[in-house]
Amino acid sequence: MITLLSIESSCDDTAAAVCRDGVILSNLIASQQVHEQYGGVVPELASRAHMQNIVPVVDKALKEAGITLHDLDAIAFTQAPGLIGSLLVGAEFAKSLALALNKPLIAVNHMQAHVLANIIEESRPSFPFLCLTVSGGHTQIVLCSSPGDMKVIGETIDDAAGEAFDKSAKLLGLPYPGGPLIDKYAKDGDPKRFNFPEPQIPGLNFSFSGLKTSILYFIQREKAKNPDFISENLADICASIQSRIVSILLHKLEKATRETGIINVCIAGGVSANSGLRKAFTESGKQYNWNTFIPSMQYCTDNAGMIAIAAYHKYLAGDFADLSVSPSARSEFITRFL
Ligand code: KG4
Ligand code: ZN
Repeated sequence: MITLLSIESSCDDTAAAVCRDGVILSNLIASQQVHEQYGGVVPELASRAHMQNIVPVVDKALKEAGITLHDLDAIAFTQAPGLIGSLLVGAEFAKSLALALNKPLIAVNHMQAHVLANIIEESRPSFPFLCLTVSGGHTQIVLCSSPGDMKVIGETIDDAAGEAFDKSAKLLGLPYPGGPLIDKYAKDGDPKRFNFPEPQIPGLNFSFSGLKTSILYFIQREKAKNPDFISENLADICASIQSRIVSILLHKLEKATRETGIINVCIAGGVSANSGLRKAFTESGKQYNWNTFIPSMQYCTDNAGMIAIAAYHKYLAGDFADLSVSPSARSEFITRFL
Protein backbone atom coordinates (compact mmCIF):
# COMPACT_ATOMS: atom_id res chain seq x y z
CA MET A 1 0.00 0.00 0.00
CA ILE A 2 1.42 3.42 -1.00
CA THR A 3 0.10 6.51 0.77
CA LEU A 4 1.16 9.95 -0.46
CA LEU A 5 0.64 13.53 0.67
CA SER A 6 0.76 16.11 -2.13
CA ILE A 7 1.04 19.88 -1.96
CA GLU A 8 0.13 22.38 -4.69
CA SER A 9 1.07 26.05 -4.30
CA SER A 10 2.03 27.24 -7.79
CA CYS A 11 -0.27 30.27 -7.95
CA ASP A 12 -2.97 31.53 -5.59
CA ASP A 13 -4.48 28.27 -4.26
CA THR A 14 -2.93 26.40 -1.35
CA ALA A 15 -3.94 22.78 -1.79
CA ALA A 16 -3.18 19.42 -0.19
CA ALA A 17 -4.37 15.90 -1.01
CA VAL A 18 -3.86 12.37 0.22
CA CYS A 19 -3.79 9.48 -2.21
CA ARG A 20 -3.57 5.74 -1.47
CA ASP A 21 -2.65 3.39 -4.31
CA GLY A 22 -3.82 5.93 -6.87
CA VAL A 23 -7.15 6.63 -5.13
CA ILE A 24 -7.69 10.16 -3.82
CA LEU A 25 -8.75 10.03 -0.14
CA SER A 26 -8.90 13.81 0.39
CA ASN A 27 -8.51 16.88 -1.82
CA LEU A 28 -8.51 20.25 -0.01
CA ILE A 29 -8.05 23.81 -1.26
CA ALA A 30 -7.67 27.15 0.52
CA SER A 31 -8.31 29.84 -2.10
CA GLN A 32 -6.97 33.37 -1.69
CA GLN A 33 -9.51 36.19 -1.97
CA VAL A 34 -6.93 38.91 -1.34
CA HIS A 35 -6.13 39.29 -5.08
CA GLU A 36 -9.64 40.18 -6.23
CA GLN A 37 -9.26 43.88 -5.40
CA TYR A 38 -6.06 44.13 -7.51
CA GLY A 39 -7.49 42.61 -10.71
CA GLY A 40 -4.89 39.80 -10.76
CA VAL A 41 -2.63 37.69 -8.56
CA VAL A 42 -0.09 39.73 -6.54
CA PRO A 43 2.90 37.35 -6.17
CA GLU A 44 4.12 38.65 -2.80
CA LEU A 45 0.64 38.44 -1.25
CA ALA A 46 0.21 34.94 -2.69
CA SER A 47 3.42 33.70 -1.01
CA ARG A 48 2.39 35.15 2.34
CA ALA A 49 -1.08 33.60 2.13
CA HIS A 50 0.46 30.21 1.26
CA MET A 51 2.56 30.42 4.42
CA GLN A 52 -0.53 31.04 6.50
CA ASN A 53 -2.64 28.38 4.79
CA ILE A 54 -0.29 25.48 4.29
CA VAL A 55 -0.29 23.93 7.78
CA PRO A 56 -4.10 24.06 8.27
CA VAL A 57 -4.75 22.71 4.75
CA VAL A 58 -2.32 19.80 5.21
CA ASP A 59 -3.81 19.04 8.65
CA LYS A 60 -7.31 18.98 7.20
CA ALA A 61 -6.28 16.77 4.26
CA LEU A 62 -4.72 14.23 6.63
CA LYS A 63 -7.74 14.26 8.95
CA GLU A 64 -10.23 13.89 6.12
CA ALA A 65 -8.24 10.94 4.78
CA GLY A 66 -8.24 9.42 8.28
CA ILE A 67 -4.45 9.15 8.50
CA THR A 68 -1.54 10.75 10.36
CA LEU A 69 1.84 11.95 9.09
CA HIS A 70 3.35 8.62 10.15
CA ASP A 71 1.19 6.70 7.66
CA LEU A 72 2.82 8.50 4.71
CA ASP A 73 5.20 6.74 2.31
CA ALA A 74 6.21 9.89 0.38
CA ILE A 75 5.62 13.63 0.12
CA ALA A 76 4.98 15.30 -3.25
CA PHE A 77 4.94 18.93 -4.30
CA THR A 78 4.51 21.11 -7.40
CA GLN A 79 7.98 21.99 -8.64
CA ALA A 80 7.10 24.21 -11.67
CA PRO A 81 5.82 26.15 -13.53
CA GLY A 82 4.38 28.86 -11.32
CA LEU A 83 5.15 31.94 -9.25
CA ILE A 84 8.57 31.45 -7.74
CA GLY A 85 7.67 32.66 -4.22
CA SER A 86 4.51 30.55 -4.17
CA LEU A 87 6.31 27.45 -5.42
CA LEU A 88 9.03 27.90 -2.79
CA VAL A 89 6.56 27.76 0.10
CA GLY A 90 5.18 24.39 -1.05
CA ALA A 91 8.59 23.01 -2.02
CA GLU A 92 10.28 23.91 1.26
CA PHE A 93 7.36 22.64 3.32
CA ALA A 94 7.31 19.32 1.44
CA LYS A 95 11.06 18.94 1.60
CA SER A 96 11.18 19.65 5.34
CA LEU A 97 8.39 17.16 6.01
CA ALA A 98 10.05 14.47 3.88
CA LEU A 99 13.32 14.98 5.75
CA ALA A 100 11.71 14.93 9.16
CA LEU A 101 9.73 11.78 8.37
CA ASN A 102 12.66 10.26 6.49
CA LYS A 103 10.46 9.58 3.46
CA PRO A 104 11.11 10.18 -0.23
CA LEU A 105 10.25 13.48 -1.88
CA ILE A 106 8.58 13.66 -5.31
CA ALA A 107 8.72 16.77 -7.53
CA VAL A 108 5.80 17.14 -9.96
CA ASN A 109 5.39 19.34 -13.03
CA HIS A 110 2.12 21.28 -12.69
CA MET A 111 1.16 21.02 -16.40
CA GLN A 112 1.78 17.27 -16.51
CA ALA A 113 -0.36 16.93 -13.39
CA HIS A 114 -3.23 18.80 -15.11
CA VAL A 115 -3.06 16.22 -17.93
CA LEU A 116 -3.05 13.31 -15.47
CA ALA A 117 -6.14 14.69 -13.72
CA ASN A 118 -7.87 12.69 -16.46
CA ILE A 119 -6.71 9.37 -15.00
CA ILE A 120 -7.84 10.05 -11.42
CA GLU A 121 -11.43 8.94 -11.80
CA GLU A 122 -13.22 5.89 -13.21
CA SER A 123 -13.65 5.89 -16.98
CA ARG A 124 -10.10 6.98 -17.75
CA PRO A 125 -8.53 7.19 -21.20
CA SER A 126 -6.18 4.45 -22.33
CA PHE A 127 -2.76 5.51 -23.64
CA PRO A 128 -1.89 7.18 -25.91
CA PHE A 129 -4.28 10.09 -25.57
CA LEU A 130 -4.35 13.75 -26.56
CA CYS A 131 -5.02 16.41 -23.95
CA LEU A 132 -5.99 20.02 -24.52
CA THR A 133 -4.58 21.67 -21.39
CA VAL A 134 -6.03 25.13 -20.91
CA SER A 135 -5.14 27.18 -17.83
CA GLY A 136 -4.40 30.73 -16.74
CA GLY A 137 -0.78 30.55 -17.88
CA HIS A 138 -0.71 27.80 -20.53
CA THR A 139 -2.56 26.48 -23.55
CA GLN A 140 -1.16 23.24 -24.90
CA ILE A 141 -2.05 20.14 -26.89
CA VAL A 142 -0.19 17.28 -25.24
CA LEU A 143 0.38 13.81 -26.64
CA CYS A 144 0.48 11.56 -23.57
CA SER A 145 1.91 8.09 -24.27
CA SER A 146 2.22 7.04 -20.60
CA PRO A 147 2.12 8.84 -17.20
CA GLY A 148 5.81 9.62 -17.60
CA ASP A 149 5.92 10.28 -21.35
CA MET A 150 4.31 13.51 -22.57
CA LYS A 151 5.07 15.65 -25.60
CA VAL A 152 3.71 19.16 -26.24
CA ILE A 153 2.65 19.16 -29.91
CA GLY A 154 0.99 22.59 -29.93
CA GLU A 155 0.93 25.64 -27.66
CA THR A 156 0.06 29.31 -27.51
CA ILE A 157 2.48 31.77 -29.02
CA ASP A 158 1.17 34.63 -26.82
CA ASP A 159 -1.68 34.67 -24.26
CA ALA A 160 -3.13 31.55 -22.68
CA ALA A 161 -6.84 30.69 -23.05
CA GLY A 162 -7.44 31.54 -19.36
CA GLU A 163 -5.76 34.91 -19.91
CA ALA A 164 -8.00 35.51 -22.92
CA PHE A 165 -11.02 34.95 -20.67
CA ASP A 166 -9.64 37.02 -17.79
CA LYS A 167 -8.43 39.94 -19.95
CA SER A 168 -11.71 40.05 -21.89
CA ALA A 169 -13.57 40.09 -18.58
CA LYS A 170 -11.39 42.98 -17.40
CA LEU A 171 -12.30 44.94 -20.54
CA LEU A 172 -15.94 44.39 -19.60
CA GLY A 173 -15.30 45.75 -16.10
CA LEU A 174 -15.64 42.32 -14.42
CA PRO A 175 -13.46 41.39 -11.42
CA TYR A 176 -10.58 38.86 -11.43
CA PRO A 177 -10.69 35.99 -12.24
CA GLY A 178 -13.18 36.81 -14.98
CA GLY A 179 -13.26 33.39 -16.71
CA PRO A 180 -15.96 31.90 -14.46
CA LEU A 181 -18.01 35.14 -14.75
CA ILE A 182 -17.93 35.12 -18.55
CA ASP A 183 -19.09 31.50 -18.33
CA LYS A 184 -21.94 32.53 -16.01
CA TYR A 185 -23.20 35.46 -18.13
CA ALA A 186 -22.71 33.55 -21.41
CA LYS A 187 -25.37 31.05 -20.32
CA ASP A 188 -28.12 33.62 -21.07
CA GLY A 189 -26.52 35.09 -24.19
CA ASP A 190 -26.54 34.62 -27.96
CA PRO A 191 -23.09 33.37 -29.07
CA LYS A 192 -23.75 34.44 -32.69
CA ARG A 193 -24.67 38.05 -31.89
CA PHE A 194 -21.12 39.46 -32.22
CA ASN A 195 -18.48 38.00 -34.48
CA PHE A 196 -14.88 38.13 -33.25
CA PRO A 197 -12.16 36.96 -35.68
CA GLU A 198 -10.43 33.59 -35.52
CA PRO A 199 -6.63 33.95 -35.98
CA GLN A 200 -4.96 31.96 -38.76
CA ILE A 201 -1.93 30.45 -37.02
CA PRO A 202 -0.04 27.64 -38.77
CA GLY A 203 0.25 24.14 -37.31
CA LEU A 204 -1.13 23.23 -33.90
CA ASN A 205 -0.19 26.49 -32.17
CA PHE A 206 -2.66 29.01 -30.76
CA SER A 207 -2.82 32.79 -30.53
CA PHE A 208 -5.19 34.87 -28.41
CA SER A 209 -3.65 38.34 -28.40
CA GLY A 210 -5.44 39.42 -31.61
CA LEU A 211 -8.79 38.43 -30.11
CA LYS A 212 -8.10 40.60 -27.06
CA THR A 213 -7.27 43.58 -29.27
CA SER A 214 -10.38 43.13 -31.42
CA ILE A 215 -12.55 42.97 -28.28
CA LEU A 216 -10.90 46.16 -26.98
CA TYR A 217 -11.59 48.09 -30.23
CA PHE A 218 -15.10 46.67 -30.47
CA ILE A 219 -15.97 47.83 -26.94
CA GLN A 220 -14.42 51.27 -27.47
CA ARG A 221 -16.38 51.70 -30.71
CA GLU A 222 -19.71 50.56 -29.27
CA LYS A 223 -19.31 52.55 -26.04
CA ALA A 224 -18.68 55.72 -28.06
CA LYS A 225 -22.14 55.22 -29.60
CA ASN A 226 -23.86 54.04 -26.41
CA PRO A 227 -22.19 54.41 -22.97
CA ASP A 228 -24.45 51.64 -21.58
CA PHE A 229 -23.54 49.20 -24.35
CA ILE A 230 -21.79 46.70 -22.04
CA SER A 231 -24.47 46.54 -19.35
CA GLU A 232 -27.27 46.31 -21.95
CA ASN A 233 -25.55 43.51 -23.90
CA LEU A 234 -23.39 41.72 -21.33
CA ALA A 235 -24.82 38.22 -21.85
CA ASP A 236 -24.48 38.37 -25.66
CA ILE A 237 -20.95 39.82 -25.48
CA CYS A 238 -19.85 37.10 -23.02
CA ALA A 239 -21.47 34.33 -25.08
CA SER A 240 -19.80 35.63 -28.29
CA ILE A 241 -16.34 35.90 -26.66
CA GLN A 242 -16.66 32.45 -25.08
CA SER A 243 -17.83 30.87 -28.31
CA ARG A 244 -14.82 32.27 -30.21
CA ILE A 245 -12.28 31.14 -27.57
CA VAL A 246 -13.87 27.67 -27.61
CA SER A 247 -13.85 27.44 -31.43
CA ILE A 248 -10.16 28.46 -31.58
CA LEU A 249 -9.34 25.69 -29.09
CA LEU A 250 -11.45 22.98 -30.71
CA HIS A 251 -10.35 23.64 -34.29
CA LYS A 252 -6.73 22.99 -33.28
CA LEU A 253 -7.69 19.95 -31.25
CA GLU A 254 -9.58 18.54 -34.27
CA LYS A 255 -6.47 19.14 -36.40
CA ALA A 256 -4.32 17.34 -33.81
CA THR A 257 -6.58 14.27 -33.86
CA ARG A 258 -6.47 14.21 -37.67
CA GLU A 259 -2.67 14.50 -37.75
CA THR A 260 -1.97 11.93 -35.01
CA GLY A 261 -4.87 9.54 -35.63
CA ILE A 262 -5.45 9.43 -31.86
CA ILE A 263 -9.12 9.32 -30.82
CA ASN A 264 -8.77 9.22 -27.02
CA VAL A 265 -9.11 12.93 -26.28
CA CYS A 266 -9.15 14.82 -22.96
CA ILE A 267 -9.34 18.38 -21.70
CA ALA A 268 -7.71 19.69 -18.52
CA GLY A 269 -6.80 22.86 -16.62
CA GLY A 270 -8.87 25.70 -15.18
CA VAL A 271 -10.56 26.60 -18.48
CA SER A 272 -11.79 23.00 -18.84
CA ALA A 273 -14.27 24.01 -16.10
CA ASN A 274 -15.92 26.26 -18.71
CA SER A 275 -19.41 24.97 -19.50
CA GLY A 276 -19.27 26.13 -23.14
CA LEU A 277 -15.99 24.28 -23.74
CA ARG A 278 -17.21 21.12 -21.98
CA LYS A 279 -20.37 21.08 -24.10
CA ALA A 280 -18.68 21.86 -27.42
CA PHE A 281 -15.89 19.35 -26.69
CA THR A 282 -18.44 16.61 -26.01
CA GLU A 283 -20.28 17.51 -29.26
CA SER A 284 -17.01 17.40 -31.26
CA GLY A 285 -16.38 13.99 -29.70
CA LYS A 286 -19.70 12.71 -31.03
CA GLN A 287 -19.13 14.29 -34.45
CA TYR A 288 -15.62 12.87 -34.93
CA ASN A 289 -16.07 9.58 -32.99
CA TRP A 290 -13.59 10.46 -30.27
CA ASN A 291 -13.57 8.85 -26.84
CA THR A 292 -13.84 12.03 -24.74
CA PHE A 293 -12.76 12.53 -21.12
CA ILE A 294 -13.25 15.56 -18.86
CA PRO A 295 -12.10 15.66 -15.23
CA SER A 296 -14.78 16.49 -12.66
CA MET A 297 -14.77 20.16 -11.59
CA GLN A 298 -12.62 19.66 -8.49
CA TYR A 299 -9.78 18.29 -10.69
CA CYS A 300 -10.01 20.97 -13.44
CA THR A 301 -8.86 24.09 -11.63
CA ASP A 302 -5.66 23.95 -9.56
CA ASN A 303 -5.81 21.15 -6.99
CA ALA A 304 -3.46 18.80 -5.16
CA GLY A 305 -5.32 15.62 -6.22
CA MET A 306 -3.74 15.90 -9.68
CA ILE A 307 -0.30 16.38 -8.07
CA ALA A 308 -0.91 13.23 -6.03
CA ILE A 309 -1.82 11.08 -9.03
CA ALA A 310 1.23 12.29 -10.97
CA ALA A 311 3.38 11.62 -7.88
CA TYR A 312 1.92 8.12 -7.47
CA HIS A 313 3.14 7.18 -10.96
CA LYS A 314 6.53 8.75 -10.27
CA TYR A 315 6.72 6.71 -7.04
CA LEU A 316 6.02 3.51 -9.02
CA ALA A 317 8.76 4.52 -11.48
CA GLY A 318 11.21 5.26 -8.61
CA ASP A 319 11.52 8.88 -9.72
CA PHE A 320 12.41 10.78 -6.54
CA ALA A 321 13.71 14.32 -5.91
CA ASP A 322 16.90 15.41 -4.24
CA LEU A 323 16.63 15.77 -0.46
CA SER A 324 20.06 17.08 0.34
CA VAL A 325 19.96 19.35 3.39
CA SER A 326 22.06 19.83 6.50
CA PRO A 327 21.37 17.48 9.45
CA SER A 328 20.78 20.53 11.72
CA ALA A 329 17.88 21.72 9.52
CA ARG A 330 16.33 18.25 9.80
CA SER A 331 16.56 18.16 13.61
CA GLU A 332 15.16 21.69 13.86
CA PHE A 333 12.09 20.70 11.84
CA ILE A 334 11.57 17.57 13.96
CA THR A 335 11.66 19.54 17.22
CA ARG A 336 9.32 22.20 15.87
CA PHE A 337 6.66 20.23 14.08
CA LEU A 338 6.68 16.52 14.99
O1 KG4 B 1 -5.53 25.74 -14.04
P1 KG4 B 1 -5.90 26.97 -13.28
O2 KG4 B 1 -6.80 26.82 -12.09
O3 KG4 B 1 -4.63 27.75 -12.81
C1 KG4 B 1 -3.49 27.84 -13.59
O4 KG4 B 1 -2.69 26.86 -13.59
O5 KG4 B 1 -3.39 28.88 -14.30
O6 KG4 B 1 -6.58 27.97 -14.36
C2 KG4 B 1 -7.02 29.24 -13.99
C3 KG4 B 1 -7.70 29.86 -15.19
C4 KG4 B 1 -8.10 31.32 -14.97
O7 KG4 B 1 -7.70 32.06 -16.11
C5 KG4 B 1 -9.61 31.26 -14.84
O8 KG4 B 1 -10.28 32.42 -15.27
C6 KG4 B 1 -9.93 30.10 -15.75
O9 KG4 B 1 -8.92 29.15 -15.48
N1 KG4 B 1 -11.25 29.52 -15.46
C7 KG4 B 1 -12.28 29.59 -16.32
C8 KG4 B 1 -13.38 28.96 -15.68
N2 KG4 B 1 -12.97 28.52 -14.45
C9 KG4 B 1 -11.65 28.87 -14.35
N3 KG4 B 1 -12.37 30.14 -17.54
C10 KG4 B 1 -13.56 30.06 -18.16
N4 KG4 B 1 -14.66 29.49 -17.61
C11 KG4 B 1 -14.62 28.92 -16.38
N5 KG4 B 1 -15.70 28.35 -15.86
ZN1 ZN C 1 -3.05 25.06 -13.17
